[in-house]
Amino acid sequence: MSTFDPAIYASRRARVCELLGSSGVAVFPAGHETIRSHDTEHPFRASSDVLYLTGFEEPETILVLAPGHELGPTILFVRPRDPEKETWTGRRAGVEGAKARWGADSAFELSEVGARLEAILSGAETLWTRLGSDPALDASLLGILERLRNRKRQPSAAPTVLRDTRDLLHPLRLIKAPEEIDAMRRACAITAEAHTAAMQACRPGLPEYALQAVIEFVFKRHGAAAPSYNTIVGAGVNATILHYIENNAVIQDGDLVLIDAGAELHHYAADITRTFPANGRFTGPQRDLYQLVLEAEEAAIAMCAPGGHWKATHDATIRRLTQGLVDLGILQGEVDGLIESEAFKRFYMHGTGHWLGIDVHDVGPYFAGQEPRPFEPGHVQTIEPGLYIPDAEDIPAPFRGIGIRVEDDVLTTADGVEILTAACPKSIEALEALVGAGWSASI
Ligand code: GLY
Ligand code: MN
Ligand code: MN
Repeated sequence: MSTFDPAIYASRRARVCELLGSSGVAVFPAGHETIRSHDTEHPFRASSDVLYLTGFEEPETILVLAPGHELGPTILFVRPRDPEKETWTGRRAGVEGAKARWGADSAFELSEVGARLEAILSGAETLWTRLGSDPALDASLLGILERLRNRKRQPSAAPTVLRDTRDLLHPLRLIKAPEEIDAMRRACAITAEAHTAAMQACRPGLPEYALQAVIEFVFKRHGAAAPSYNTIVGAGVNATILHYIENNAVIQDGDLVLIDAGAELHHYAADITRTFPANGRFTGPQRDLYQLVLEAEEAAIAMCAPGGHWKATHDATIRRLTQGLVDLGILQGEVDGLIESEAFKRFYMHGTGHWLGIDVHDVGPYFAGQEPRPFEPGHVQTIEPGLYIPDAEDIPAPFRGIGIRVEDDVLTTADGVEILTAACPKSIEALEALVGAGWSASI
């Protein structure tokens, strides 16, 4: 089932075709299933570019946009119908389905891709593809270019310009349209509900994976296809490991619990982090560090309005965190000098945010020329400051081994921001009221 009305995908393809012009051809592969073991596969997810342009989810698919060709503009190469295979591994749209349901003007079985692509590319000026993403397709395209260039006693019919589809499509994916923003609002609402449930369910003595189960239960119960990345549940010092996914330690009384988890709903990602005390009460040092991260986050979010840019949000975050670390006696020295020497990186070693969309680390240029790209209405990004204090002897004892991150998803609007994840509690008072309040699955 496609996420949006077919007309939406058609209008996205029409925009790309305008940029291609009648002499351009663009090729987008959906990718291949990969083996998990023997005859079982990892769950397949089509490439985000193909999802953006068609919503079509089947593996092996190749989408070709060729506005100047008689078979175009939208040409799909798809797996053939096969009753025996479909009995084992599920339904296929086939050539007829690709035309009737997925917007193809022409569709062919994958076995035809080589010969058909050669005909489509013959006489085109520019081939847009993404070399390196699909080696089998690369080899096929390079073979076609070679043959078109070396035709006997005929002039070359090979495209003379080779360009990267990322430069064509990703600036478009960066600006979210109203229907995309609605989808992301829904993904964020489900994710906020899941984090709230995990806070309510938490108690010392539970394994980290029990909270992962709560989170992913809520995601799936609301129809999310999957987490949009591997769920992180880190208690105590595990919270200082940025991408900790073992999730198999027992939560101890006095731990902070960091959960970084997001639902993927209708192909769009949410990405929320919350950190809370396992027993429902922050200790003094935990509270001081948490309040510092929260203030850094609030300062950065306020800068996501039009005209701000990611470098400014990062610089503001670094300044606030560094000042706070000095105030708490964790760093010694002058703030400017500590920023200059990047002393903060021992405690805050990642960026302050990233674009968010069909991919959790979504595509789109971060620069406009040499300068950081200013935020525009329709940009969606995360803001995710954190502090990761090593369990080391030179750190004041009360702060050792504390990991905190707070992450929200922020839409830039015409006159400010909309925090898509605002429903997910994060104030100290709200967390202390919620944690351990109790949760049971309702189905
Ligand atoms: N969950 C991955 C990230 O926050 O970037
Ligand atoms: Mn993130
Ligand atoms: Mn995250």
